[in-house]
Amino acid sequence: MLPTVAVLRGDGIGPEVIEAALSVLGACTPVRVEEALIGGAAIDATGDPLPPATLSLCRQSQAVLLGAVGGPRWDAGPVRAESGLLGLRQGLGLYANLRPARFMGLPTPLRDGLVRQANLLVVRDLAGGVYFGEPRGNDGESAFNTWRQTKAGTARVAQIAFREARQRRRRVTSVDKANVLEASQLWRATVDEVGRSYPDVSLEHRHIDAMSFEMLQSPQRFDVILAENLFGDILSDEAAAVVGSLGLLPSASLGDGTPLFEPVHGSAPALAGRGLANPTGAILSVAMLLEHALGRADLARLVEEAVASALREARTPDIGGSATTAELTALVHRHLAWLRDTGSAAEGSLMSYEWGV
Ligand code: NAD
Ligand code: IPM
Ligand code: MN
Repeated sequence: MLPTVAVLRGDGIGPEVIEAALSVLGACTPVRVEEALIGGAAIDATGDPLPPATLSLCRQSQAVLLGAVGGPRWDAGPVRAESGLLGLRQGLGLYANLRPARFMGLPTPLRDGLVRQANLLVVRDLAGGVYFGEPRGNDGESAFNTWRQTKAGTARVAQIAFREARQRRRRVTSVDKANVLEASQLWRATVDEVGRSYPDVSLEHRHIDAMSFEMLQSPQRFDVILAENLFGDILSDEAAAVVGSLGLLPSASLGDGTPLFEPVHGSAPALAGRGLANPTGAILSVAMLLEHALGRADLARLVEEAVASALREARTPDIGGSATTAELTALVHRHLAWLRDTGSAAEGSLMSYEWGV
């Protein structure tokens, strides 16, 4: 039986980048695609940003591929589009969000020499922190949220970070605000404790303010960056700036239930409907899906190589070009087809391919 992929296009540029990503997935391997509503689109159709049918479809699928949710139309409430995504992550028991960012040979706001060696993996706690802590509220005069960080919740995401580091350059930088916040003090102590089981991985700590600076000053120094929910959200957008655009970064969210794959960027309302969104983050999310959900690391490497080749020939406006979403996607397909035709002969060299070189 074919694996089922639940596809949630969402809002804004979500449907456009998912169209591109889905075509690449289809070109790689046969899957059964089931579409469902989430976010603003689901509010419009049902009043609920995460209809029960969507959650149950995702639970029964082998993977979820999501575009983006949110937009000004739903910002005033009564229910926000973003709560659909947060409910989905929670409903699937997802707690580790992997957001890789590496130099792709593209122009960036930073000096070229600084970013050439950049190869980061942000591992973000997706289940803890101020996103889900209770109590929370807003009575118009005062508003409050709770940052609750549990030891167990911190340990399980830290373990993922150390394991990922073992596949990479064996270095974890854990980010916190332990000089001020109790939640960060427990975070740091827990990460230290987990780190003792990984003596082959070096561990260092940074305060979030200093880290924000250092990531721009010397991004090449870092390997795996482990952060709690809000800090990881912010640092991953900064990592996108390091490599050139928010449109470039993919992500995988792993945990107890069906894994979720989505670009790091949002619905970019001003860009929606113009055919100019960068599909790279969504297409590379398909590569992560192939590797993590379908066990096809071989196909993931092919997609990454096809994207790298396509970006050498055409760029969307966010990375300094004038290509449309469709033009860049067509180039990815052309390179993918070529790589697959020649793949059997070149299999060894494809596996050792280095991104952006
Ligand atoms: P955003 O990521 O949508 O956009 C930030 C900037 O990056 C904008 O200038 C946008 O044009 C640009 N950009 C983003 N993706 C791009 C792409 N693929 N190609 C080219 N340019 C791209 O962030 P925002 O403006 O803060 O948020 C807009 C809406 O998206 C909000 O409702 C927010 O809550 C939501 N959002 C959703 C997700 C998600 O679904 N995972 C993530 C972030 C933001
Ligand atoms: C992201 C987004 C989400 C987050 C929002 C839309 C809930 O910014 O996926 O990075 O904060 O996690
Ligand atoms: Mn974000």
